[in-house]
Amino acid sequence: MTSNGPNRKAPFQLAAMAYGGDYNPEQWPEETWHEDVRLMREAGVNLVSVGIFAWAKLEPRPGVYDFAWLDRVLDLLHANGVMVDLATATASPPPWLAKLHPESLPVTADGRTLWPGSRQQYCPSSPAYREAAARLVRMMAERYKHHPALVLWHVNNEYACHVSECFCDESARHFRRWLQQRYGSLDALNAAWGTAFWSQQYADWDEIQPPRAAPTFQNPTQQLDWRRFSSDALLECYELEHAILKELTPDVPVTTNFMHAFKPLDYWKWAQYEDLVTLDMYPDPTEPDAHVYAAMNYDLIRSLGTGRPWLLMEQAPGQVNWRPHNLVKEPGIMRLWSHQALARGSDGVMFFQWRASKAGSEKFHSGMVPHGGTETRTWREVVALGQELRRIEELRPTRIHAEAAILFDWENWWALELDSKPSADLRLVGQVRSYYDRLFERNVTVDFVSPGTTLSRYRLVLVPNLYMVRDETARELERFVEAGGTLVMSFFSGIVNEHDQIWLGGYPGPFRRLLGLRVEEFAPLAPGQTNTMRMADGHQFACNLWSDIIALEGAEVLGEFGEGWYAGRPALTRHTFGRGLAYYLATRPEPAGMAWLLARACHEAGVEPAAHVPAGVEAVRRQSGTATLLYLLNHGHEPADVALESPALDLLTGQRHCGIVTLEPRGVAILRS
Ligand code: GAL
Repeated sequence: MTSNGPNRKAPFQLAAMAYGGDYNPEQWPEETWHEDVRLMREAGVNLVSVGIFAWAKLEPRPGVYDFAWLDRVLDLLHANGVMVDLATATASPPPWLAKLHPESLPVTADGRTLWPGSRQQYCPSSPAYREAAARLVRMMAERYKHHPALVLWHVNNEYACHVSECFCDESARHFRRWLQQRYGSLDALNAAWGTAFWSQQYADWDEIQPPRAAPTFQNPTQQLDWRRFSSDALLECYELEHAILKELTPDVPVTTNFMHAFKPLDYWKWAQYEDLVTLDMYPDPTEPDAHVYAAMNYDLIRSLGTGRPWLLMEQAPGQVNWRPHNLVKEPGIMRLWSHQALARGSDGVMFFQWRASKAGSEKFHSGMVPHGGTETRTWREVVALGQELRRIEELRPTRIHAEAAILFDWENWWALELDSKPSADLRLVGQVRSYYDRLFERNVTVDFVSPGTTLSRYRLVLVPNLYMVRDETARELERFVEAGGTLVMSFFSGIVNEHDQIWLGGYPGPFRRLLGLRVEEFAPLAPGQTNTMRMADGHQFACNLWSDIIALEGAEVLGEFGEGWYAGRPALTRHTFGRGLAYYLATRPEPAGMAWLLARACHEAGVEPAAHVPAGVEAVRRQSGTATLLYLLNHGHEPADVALESPALDLLTGQRHCGIVTLEPRGVAILRS
């Protein structure tokens, strides 16, 4: 490892609320740069990400660098008051790298090479790629370390967005080294991987392969370790750059932009190396609940940064180019969704990209400056938002406090979704959303927590399908409930240890005491098949996907299955454990069932919504000392009246409201009371 370790410094915050986007001046003649900075001033842009895909322009031939143009760009930006998030430019190697080092190209599981002509065509384990990237980063840092425009380093770009794993021979060797470090001996590896099964026992490290295309199911622990390794291999690339930047510019914060709940990379691990956690988010305007998924990601990203301000690094001003049908953001949506990110902790609003490209595969992707220039709706909305952001600096010292948390673990995600399970339809993000979406509707703010987290600051902890669990995590959940916390856990939790080997002694081994039950067998449902949950209080809900056949060991039954051979067996239980309560859900209820359960759990845990508002209105509370700001966002198509508990001032309009504030469709208010 090349790293000088995760960040331990004080949390970093930009000097002002950021507004801007990816700026690719290398695609334009120099005259255009002058127009760019004039327009940036007009729009209130104060931060741009420069040079993300400029490697070929910066190093046109191996070892031959041309920084003169970038010098002029940075000087011009600085002269116009625009701060620079400077990219290390390593996301898209120039064609010469592949020509000189064809072995640096990534290879798929079935042995196909991914060629240049697109982007991200590098093998994460390739020494040639790593050396060339490190050389470039060192040159960049040496050259710009004192440049006054530089406020942030933008390492690479969306690691793994296209290539998250490589199966070439170099990667195979790297995988073996990684396994040697993890296990120390082949005996330990054979035991962890359970290689007695199907005659897979290894007698020599060199016999071990990445999980390349194979006749049928691959060893699951091998697949799981491959996922761990692939995330780590890219993290090593990031750490390599991070270490050089920290050596040469110790005072300049470093980030790399994350993508939504993105399966290939264990962002809990990655986030430790980020001075500022940044996110790219592209909600799909065709989805009626796109804003709910966005909110979930904003809460996840805030949690990755342990509650610190984060930054929305990319979003589209209008349409994207990469969906089959690229719908525009209708008037008001870009503003509404930008405010949503601010409400949930972003310290600014950034776009991909500043000026829409005239060539290349993203030429139909929207830009802050559209092809049509400034006489366009997009530009008018961009300018208006930029002006509005200057009025809400007061937001920046405030933070979000959640009393509920969802446990989210990448390793569990990988393990849960490996093949050969009782049901192939069990997907973690869908399950997380079955909780998150209902809490969103209630305006209950949630954090996400990793397995290692101490949970004592929460009242309610939600555990969707923690299939793979380490003993320490199970003990922490017990401590949480014992001390008075409320827990809700879904089926197929506590089934395997970190090697994907069954916790023997009756499912769910590590949670039996806590839940007061034993699962005798899993009875998944076929697609389209449903059952019912009959609640003791008379409610009845449809359920699907899964049923656990439960034997009680102290838990009480709150609902039972209504149909089939296991009618009458528990579908929802509750167990008093110490001073707290542990709910267990043996199936997937329809949304109304989840809403019923979570309303009850919130009530018992004493978890309150941020505000009581009409359906379709999102409410988030932000606090600093005794000051509270209430962010209200109307995602509905009708005006919404929100009753205020006390008179309040809207930071956006400067208006004082008493009694009721009316939000227009897509309307936003930030109220200080
Ligand atoms: C992001 C990427 C940008 C651009 C954008 C288009 O995933 O980081 O470089 O391609 O998508 O939406």
